[in-house]
Amino acid sequence: MPRITVTVDGVKYEEDVEPRLLLVHLLRERLGKTGTPIGCDTSNCGACTVMLDGKSVKSCSVLAVQADGCDVVTIEGLGTNGANGSMHPMQRAFHEEHALQCGYCTPGMVMAAIDLLRDDPEPSEETIRQGLEGNLCRCTGYCNIVRAVRRGAQEMGQAVSTS
Ligand code: FES
Ligand code: FES
Repeated sequence: MPRITVTVDGVKYEEDVEPRLLLVHLLRERLGKTGTPIGCDTSNCGACTVMLDGKSVKSCSVLAVQADGCDVVTIEGLGTNGANGSMHPMQRAFHEEHALQCGYCTPGMVMAAIDLLRDDPEPSEETIRQGLEGNLCRCTGYCNIVRAVRRGAQEMGQAVSTS
């Protein structure tokens, strides 16, 4: 069985994995990262989206062995931890704009939203909708999600410009 080394949310893990093991199963079942949900079995919904070396990927369509030597960030690694831990600006924006109902799509939406800002830090509504087209919200709360991404983008821009 291949042994891989992968850093997840800042912690380095060495794991023996079957070649067919999916990254999402490694995250959830071996590393306890259940904040990353599985929402389909067709690589369609985007609920399982995480960052792999800084780019958003659907972790159900990546093999764990492909993450060997990589840096993975899940929704659980976004905010700052500790007793007074705080949310990432995009997480806070989703909270403040009521951009979730059941919340099942939210981890993937937040990760995809952060990724789309790499290309366009001040995205239009159209750009946001295009950037999130691989992520489905079964509660259909898209209006508030778009508002949240715009707000998150503004706050992230301010965080950068004041740092
Ligand atoms: Fe990965 Fe749906 S669980 S895309
Ligand atoms: Fe329920 Fe999006 S908030 S699936």
